[in-house]
This record gives sequence, C-alpha cells and structure tokens, in this order.
Amino acid sequence: MRGPMISLERLFRPRSVAVVGASKTPGKIGHAVLVNLVASGFRGAIYPINPKEEEIEGLKAYPRVTDVPGPVDVAVICVPAPAVNAVAEECGRAGVGYLVVITAGFKETGREGAEREKALAAICRQYGMRMVGPNCLGIMDTSTPMNATFSANFPFQGRIAFISQSGALCAAILDWSLKRGIGFSKFISVGNKADLTEADFIEDAAADPQSKVICLYLESVEEGARFVEACRRASRTTPILVIKSGTSQAGAQAASSHTGALAGSDLAYETAFRQAGVLRVHTMEELFDLAQAFVRQPAPPGNRVAIVTNSGGPGVLAADAIENSPLTMARFEKETIDRLRKSLPAAANVFNPVDVIGDAHWDRYDAALGAVLDDPGVDGVLVVLTPTATIEPDVVAEKIVEHHRRHPEKPVLAAFLGGASVEEATRYLLGNGIPCYPFPEPAVSALAGLLRYRELSTAPAAVEEWTFPDVDRAAVEEVFSYVRRDKRVVLLGSEAFRVAESYGIPCAPSYLATTPDAARRLAEHMGFPVVLKVASPQILHKTDVGGVKVGLATPEEVKRGFVDIMESVHQHLPDSVVYGVEVQKMMPPGRELIVGVTRDVQFGPLIMFGLGGVYVNLLKDVAFRLAHGLTREEAHAMIRQTRAYTLLRGFRGERPADIEALVDTIGRVAQLVRDFPEITEMDINPVFAYEKGLAALDVKITIR
Ligand code: COA
Repeated sequence: MRGPMISLERLFRPRSVAVVGASKTPGKIGHAVLVNLVASGFRGAIYPINPKEEEIEGLKAYPRVTDVPGPVDVAVICVPAPAVNAVAEECGRAGVGYLVVITAGFKETGREGAEREKALAAICRQYGMRMVGPNCLGIMDTSTPMNATFSANFPFQGRIAFISQSGALCAAILDWSLKRGIGFSKFISVGNKADLTEADFIEDAAADPQSKVICLYLESVEEGARFVEACRRASRTTPILVIKSGTSQAGAQAASSHTGALAGSDLAYETAFRQAGVLRVHTMEELFDLAQAFVRQPAPPGNRVAIVTNSGGPGVLAADAIENSPLTMARFEKETIDRLRKSLPAAANVFNPVDVIGDAHWDRYDAALGAVLDDPGVDGVLVVLTPTATIEPDVVAEKIVEHHRRHPEKPVLAAFLGGASVEEATRYLLGNGIPCYPFPEPAVSALAGLLRYRELSTAPAAVEEWTFPDVDRAAVEEVFSYVRRDKRVVLLGSEAFRVAESYGIPCAPSYLATTPDAARRLAEHMGFPVVLKVASPQILHKTDVGGVKVGLATPEEVKRGFVDIMESVHQHLPDSVVYGVEVQKMMPPGRELIVGVTRDVQFGPLIMFGLGGVYVNLLKDVAFRLAHGLTREEAHAMIRQTRAYTLLRGFRGERPADIEALVDTIGRVAQLVRDFPEITEMDINPVFAYEKGLAALDVKITIR
C-alpha cells in the first residue's frame, strides 16, 4: 500500500488487456473473463495468454505475456495461486501497467497465503505496477466499455461508481441492478487490497466525470488516516455512501478508562465516516435508494418539503417521516394557498400535505405541483400517489417530469404506492430522472440524504492542522522515559499532570509528597485547603481503599491525612506499591466534564468529550472525534452535540462557562496524542469548567 496516486486512467481505459490463464473451457474463470471482455465491446487489443493454445475465442493466444507484440496496460490474472507470482514477475518484465488478480488463495487462507501475497505486492513495487486484488471479481467500466470480471452480468451505463470489498456481493448487485434499471459508471471488486485500496478508487472516481456518486461496501479499512483524507477531499464534489458490515476489534479492549469503555466497537468507523463527510446507510436497499436520488436530483437549497398526495394515510406517513428527520414540512405563502384553493375542490387540503383527495384526476396533481414548486418557501417536493380508480398514474408521472424541468434547482421525488398499476409510471419516472419509491419512507430518507450532503459539501473546508506552538514536547518525553525506566505503563497522577501541563492543559496544582512533612510543606506553599490522594499505579479506585482526603485546612490535618491514607491503603491492599501521596490544591466547584482519549487500530486516537464526574458511564453523554485532522469547528461541534452543552451555556440563571478554553483543551489533548503515539489511553475526569478558565482535577495516562 502506497501513498496517493495520480490517476487510474490507464486501468479503467486501457489500450490493451491480457488475460493470463485464458481458457477454451466454458465454466472456467479464465474463459469467462475473456468472453466478458469481448462481449462488453472493449475496443482495445485483447491478448489471451495460455501456454497450450494457439487461439481462444477467435483471438490469437500467446504462451507468455512477454511474447505479446504490443504494450500491455492491464493483465487480468486467473491462473492457480501457486503460479500467480511467477506470472506477475513476467508481467513486470513485460512492462505491464496494472494487474487485476482474480485468483484466490492469498491472505484470506492463512499464513502461507499471506506470505505469497506479500511477495506478490513486492513484485508489483519492484516493477512499478499497481494491482487490484488478489482474490477479487475484477473491474468494470461501462463508458470504456470494459468488463474485466468473471461476473455473469454487465450493468447498464450509469453514474454510480460501486466499490466493494465482497466479490460475491458485487455479482448479486449486478444481477439485481439489471432488474431495477440501475446503471453504474464503474464497478470495482477490491479483493484483499494488497496494493490499491478503496482510498485509491475513491480518489479516482471523484475525478471521473462519469461518476456522480460513490457507493462503498466495506468490511474493514486498512489505512484509516488515508481513507479519511481521501473521502474528505472527494466528498466535497462527489457524495460518498457507505455500507459497513462487521465491527472493528478495537475500542472495547481498553475498559480500564472511561473513554475506552464508552467507545463501542463500531464507534471509530462511525466517527471516521462523519468526519470524512461520508453518508452511512444500513441496508443495500437504502444504499441504492439514496444513490438514485444523488444521481438524478440536486441537493435541496433548504430543509422545507411540500407533499402532494391523493390519499390521507400515506400523506400523513410521509409527513411523520419528514418530521422525524432533519427535514421539515414547508409552510406555504398566501399566494400558494389561494392558488390551491382556486384549483382544488373544497374538500381538498390546501395546507401541507396537500391532499388532492381520492377522486382526483391528473389535473389536480398538475395544479398542485405548479403551485407548491413556485412557492419560494418550498425547497423540495415529495409526490405521493395511490392507485385509485380515477387517477392516471402515467399522466401524473409525465406532469411531475414537466414540473421538475421548470424548477431543476429543487429536488422532486415520488412515492407511487401499489404494484402493477403504477409499474409503467414508475419506470417512466426513473427513466426521466425522478427517483420513485414504493413507499413514502424511503423517499423521505433519500431526500434527507440529499440535504445532509448539501450540509457536508458546503461546510467550510478544513484548513491546515490545528496546532499549538507553545507545547513542551521534551518535558513529556522526559516523563515517559522515566516511567519506562520504572517499568510501568500507568503514569502516577503527578506525572500525568506534568504531561498535561506541558501541553498547556490547565491543571489544579498537584505534587507528590513522600513524607507527612513534605505534604505539609507543599500544602503551605500552595495554600489551604488541599486534597490528598494516594499515589500508586496499581490503585484505580482510590476512594474505595480510603486513599482520598478532601478539604484539609491545617498543617496538622495534612500530616495526619498522609498517615491515615498510608495506613488505610496498607490495610486494604497490603501488596500494592505506593509512591507516596499527592497533594492537590482544593479547587472551587465547577461544571464537571470529561475529556478522554482511546485508540483505534485503523483510525488512531479518538477524542471524547462529555459530562464528567462519577456518573460518566451511567449518563453516556459523550461525543467522539478522530484526533487526526480535528479542527476548531469540529471541537465546537462535539461540545454542542452533548447535553453538557446546555449546562455550559448557563442553565437556570447560571453564567455561561468558558467554552473557548474547553475547545482549546480538546485541541491540545488531540495534539498531545498525535505527537505521542505511545499514549494508548487518557482520561481527564473531572475537568472543572468555570466562568473563566478550567482546571483538570484528575488525569490518567497509560502508555505502551
Ligand atoms: N500462464 C498462462 N496460463 C496458465 C498458466 C500460466 N503460467 N498456468 C496455468 N495456465 C492456464 C491453464 O492451463 C488453464 O488453461 P486451460 O483451461 O487451457 O488448461 C488456465 O490457465 C486456468 O488454470 P486451471 O489450472 O485450469 O485453473 P482453474 O481455472 O481451475 O482455476 C482460478 C484458476 C484462478 C480460477 C482459481 O485458482 C481460483 O482462484 N478460483 C477462485 C477465484 C475467486 O473466487 N476469486 C475471488 C472472487 S471474489
């Protein structure tokens, strides 16, 4: 896997394709690939490679790739696994640009296969070839046209680029797409992703004028940061829809911190998708419902939707679905209502949803559509139709298309309920760019998807990384190397405070004392009252073992507190290693928050913010973001996402808390964990937020 590439133009528009392992025997994959390539109408040169044959399917065959007279842009490899690497080597020597390795029997089969795959990737690197697969169905491009797969079907030409990690699913979707009339620009089965990954294909599809929307079926992501970067850039011009199966192994492993426990296994993906501007869907149906809308309809200028229906029930269902989404029901202007009153019978509803009622003919839809689309307070329209005895679905369909042409800037979607009697009309609508669904709910969710994309693509582009120049890296390195020398992975509180302070995170003054007298001196120095906490990397729940004393107001109380803590801890946990007692300045009460970090294998550190204190796990009022690429705007957004935000703004007459200081701290924590990959977990809990400034009262850090 290598860095971002320039273009995959030659992969999808090759001048010549060699099929290595092409076969005369029907039923063999090498036969299917060759036949598909010819049948797709591919106009470049096709070279079957087979050591035993003179000609296959009327094409001259060559024993080896190196025997081919012209240059080979793409070699599709379908020879048995043990022969693949030797073939790849030959391709390298022949100057082939891209390999598409269909053969299975690599990483997915265990150690031997993984070794073979590594060697194959090394051969590609050595010769500067790029590779799709191994263990894939192949690739298609409908505008080239080229079918370099062994799929039984070639899709209609369309504007959806489909990238899939499952070859079997590709085959099933292709079959189904023919029935639903869905077209594709590109179809890519990524296989084991030993070289080219979904990030490469996303970048390529975003630059491809034929592709208007990118659909991804993902099981896992290899290079999290690169994936997020590629999607972030691509999604500004091309919507990306993803369906993700399975869950990541990360996250939940680290239950010793609050942040780790709150980060579910799917959370890193959810967070990454959000930050990358990717729209996640949960079913195949939804994926293509949305994709259709993206291909044919504009994103709505706002969230106000009008419904036109000929039946009350489905109209109400549609309205409910709208109110349960970020969309809202439009309120019509007076002119619109007057127009509707004039052209509809008295029993009709002229307010949203507009009900042209059950005995309507097409002309009432015509009049209603005209009126609502002209209303400047309407951003999009949903047309609901049930097949009554009087309605002419085909004529209504034609009218919808006509009205949409008058207002191409507003999305118009249809939900034609029923079966046989709306089939013709549905086909007409789909053929003319109006997504049509069998029920109101998928239409609403598609419309909501369009709106969400508008928000994503118009959000300010991330500027350069958000960093703080005043941090002291060396001080942190020093603490970590001391901890390592001490053969620990958990930092003492006082050490964790040093780390946090070095990155400008405001902390309550806190120092380690090893004797009662030292504790007294520290307390006198910082001023009473103080808090004492046992310092031991082995004791996670200090209060439970009598390891915490608060509000100590005199030198005597501090000295006695020190002794009491040592005795109590010794009684509860006689074997624990105790480094002493931390003396911390007792802070005035503030609003209790948590800022934490957990780490995901694919996506790196995740920052958490939320309501802090002892009820964190109970309330689960938290928001997550990836530390990589975190912006100030995102930090603000994550605060706003929690209910804690209500408290911070000032609840019941309280003055607002210092949100800017909090945003700052989130950014500083993100920088700390980006700078130090050895930090596996971190909890700052609680952080007290004040009207002015903050103070971290407890910091926990675990390193590798
Ligand atoms: N150069 C050129 N041709 C070669 C070759 C070489 N080095 N080695 C073998 N061949 C030829 C064979 O002679 C044969 O042609 P023939 O029919 O004229 O004899 C052809 O390549 C295929 O070899 P064969 O041994 O018949 O293999 P196969 O067709 O049974 O299986 C694969 C090959 C690649 C299909 C199989 O190994 C495989 O991986 N199947 C799974 C594929 C898959 O599921 N991929 C993932 C999908 S999502």
